[in-house]
Parts: sequence; structure tokens; C-alpha cells
Amino acid sequence: MKKVAFYTLGCRVNQYETEAMAELFEKDGYQIVDFEEYADIYVINTCTVTSIGDKKSRQMLRRAKKINKNAIVVAVGCYAQVAPDEVASIDDVDIIIGTDNKSKILEYIDEYKQTKNKLNKVKNIMSVRDFEEMEIDHYQDKTRAFLKIQDGCDRFCSYCLIPYARGPVRSKKFETIIEEVKKLVNNGYKEIILSGIHVASYGKDLGNVTLVDVIEELNKIEGLERIRIGSVEPSFFTLENIIRLSNCAKLCEHFHLSLQSGCDETLKRMNRHYTTDEYYEAVQNLRIYFKDVSITTDIIVGFPGETEDEFNRTYEFLKKVKLTKLHVFKYSPRKGTKAASLKETVSNHEKEVRSKKLIELSDRYEKEFYERFIDRTMDILVEEKKDNLYIGYTRNYLKVGVESINNIEGEIVNVKIKQYKDDMLIGSMV
Ligand code: 5AD
Repeated sequence: MKKVAFYTLGCRVNQYETEAMAELFEKDGYQIVDFEEYADIYVINTCTVTSIGDKKSRQMLRRAKKINKNAIVVAVGCYAQVAPDEVASIDDVDIIIGTDNKSKILEYIDEYKQTKNKLNKVKNIMSVRDFEEMEIDHYQDKTRAFLKIQDGCDRFCSYCLIPYARGPVRSKKFETIIEEVKKLVNNGYKEIILSGIHVASYGKDLGNVTLVDVIEELNKIEGLERIRIGSVEPSFFTLENIIRLSNCAKLCEHFHLSLQSGCDETLKRMNRHYTTDEYYEAVQNLRIYFKDVSITTDIIVGFPGETEDEFNRTYEFLKKVKLTKLHVFKYSPRKGTKAASLKETVSNHEKEVRSKKLIELSDRYEKEFYERFIDRTMDILVEEKKDNLYIGYTRNYLKVGVESINNIEGEIVNVKIKQYKDDMLIGSMV
């Protein structure tokens, strides 16, 4: 049997696209094996959000032929899109596909087999206008389904390379989303996660439909229990949107609201179109309309010109908003972005110091948030069994472990929370 192995770097959209490609291979008679195993084809879905993404992508592209020197190595995704020549210069790489035409991967492999010449299929993503349809029938994860409903970004934050890697905003058709979710629910999925490169831009290209419209429509689907959305910006949470969303009972009260910096001057240089006051207001409104809401965020430290004082303002702002968890990134200059032409003023050592400080704060707040729920009774959607515990998540995305004599995988169960241990809550069935 023909074998294919995948390795995915980066975001949820990449994970979705890998699964969609895996299904194409399966339907063509391939067996999917682990990346460290012997395979005929290795597909590496790359990432370029920071230079670490590039580096890891290159490492994985070089690893495949050490397992099978006769394999075909395919580089796909964002790093391949923005640096096709760099990727092509790696001897081991045979086929290069960017962020479009991933659904043609099997055709490209056939084409390669005929000539055995390195094949570069990367095209100008900035002129692509259509959303590339790739459907997934069954996910490896049996309880929740990620659904990519949007691609591209037209925000051009000054540090970010992704608009160049993903191209303009493109959205999956409204009716197609509803149909696909209905199908997934019929197949037993209880939770849907709506993802995209900039998911809040959903519908901009379609004209008369928004992400809120999608959520309202999905909220009506019988059998669907939970809806989650990927990362959004504060400007999405206008009071009007918050009120409409708070009437969607299935929408889970966990939001990832990217802040990037808690200093207004830095935000301006980052080309982020909000102030810390506006961010704070969005968070407070969410807290009013969504009981027990958990809000997480992304922060970049060491952006060019971030002085000690600017960093301290970020730190103080984070103490004021007290979010559940911070994902901290050290600024990495990306060639082709506006910020890449700014002089770097923060040393690697200082970036490390600032990052550590924020991670400490994050750990403290995460623990505090978790502990707030001790003695409460919460619903968890059970995903898997590990050792003697069933593990699942609450609507506000707290990880909970519970013992049960019956197999409760895939079920929503009511749990009384007892303690916080090893980064999760432990409870018992009620
Ligand atoms: N350097 C560091 N972090 C970055 N991110 C995006 N671009 C960069 C960069 N050049 C971070 C942002 C974004 C997350 C996905 O990656 O915080 O929200």
C-alpha cells in the first residue's frame, strides 16, 4: 500500500488544510503513517509567522529523506509561499506548493513522477480572489471539528508577513458552511470551531454577510452543542455584536482577543487600529454579557522602539485587564513587512527578559482563573481518556479531568470541580 506522512507547523488553519489534504490521499488509496515512519511521500505544511517557523520548516523538510531517501518531499504552505526560492534550494525538496492549490497536490505528484524534475507551483497569491474549497468529512479529533471558513488578511499589521503569505480576504460561502456543519453534526460532532487567517473579516468579499450572521445561523442547528471562534481583534466586539452574540446560547464564552501591546504608541507603530482603552472596554463588555468568560491574548515583546517605559505600560495594562492567558511572542523581523525597515532596538536578551516577565504573569492569572471554579458544577465535553481520567473542556475552555466507570468519550457531562492540579481541574461526576 502507498504511504504518506504529514508534518504540520503553525496555526489551526494549517492543521485544517493538512487534514483536508490527508483525506485526498486516503481517498486515493494511501495509508497515512507517522512522520517518523517510512513513507513514499512526505508533506510538510510550513509556517512563516516568525523566523522560528522558517527554521523549523527547513529542519522538517530536510528530515524526510533521512527516513526514506527515495521519497517524494512536498513543501506546502506559508513559508513555501513567501520564500519559494529558498525552499527550492533545499536539495531534498521535490515539489513546492504555496498557500493556494493545495487541493491539487495529487495531480502535482503525478506530474513530478513523469519528469522527476523539481516542481515549483507557487503562484502570486495577491491576485487570488476565490476561496479554495476543501472539505473534511471526518476529523482525527472525534468530538470537535475545526472548520476553515475564511482565508487571507488585508490588515497589514506592520510586523506581520501573513497577508503576503495568504493573500486577500476570501470567505467560504454562507450556505456551504451551514450545510457542512449540518453534515458534521449528523456525523456526531458536538462542537464546531470556526477558524480563518483573520476570521473576523469573514464575508467582507461576499458583501452582505458577517461572522455574526454565521454564528446566529449555526446557533439554530439542532444537535450542535458548542460553537467556538478563532482569534479576533477588539474592533470585532462592538457592543452591538456582543449583544447579538450573547443571544447565541451555543457560542462558548472563551475568546482569543489579540492585544499585541498594551501601549498605545507601540500599537500605532504596529498599525493596529485600536487603543488600549478600546480594548479594555471590549473586555469589560464581554465580561458583562458572557458569564464566566475567559479571554486569552497574543502579545509581542521587543517590537522596534519598545522602550523600557513602553514595555512597563504593557505590563501595567495587563495587570489591569487580567486576562486568563497570554501567548507571548518575541518580535522577529520579517522581510517585506513595514516594520522590517525599522531599526531593532531591543536585544535578544532583553526580549527574553520581557517575555519571561509576561509568562510569569500569565501563569499566575491562569492559575487564579482556574481556581475560581473550584466547588462549581460545570459541563465538560469529554475528548479522550488518559491514564484513569477522562479529559475534556468546559465551555470557557478549562481543562478538566474526571473519573468514570462508563465510557464517556464524546459526551457532555456534568462535573463538580474539586481541585486544581497539574495545570487542570479535577472533578467528579454528578
Ligand atoms: N514577530 C513576532 N510575533 C509575531 N506574530 C506575528 N508576526 C510576528 C512577528 N513578526 C505573532 C502575533 C500573532 C501571532 C499569531 O504571531 O502575536 O497574533
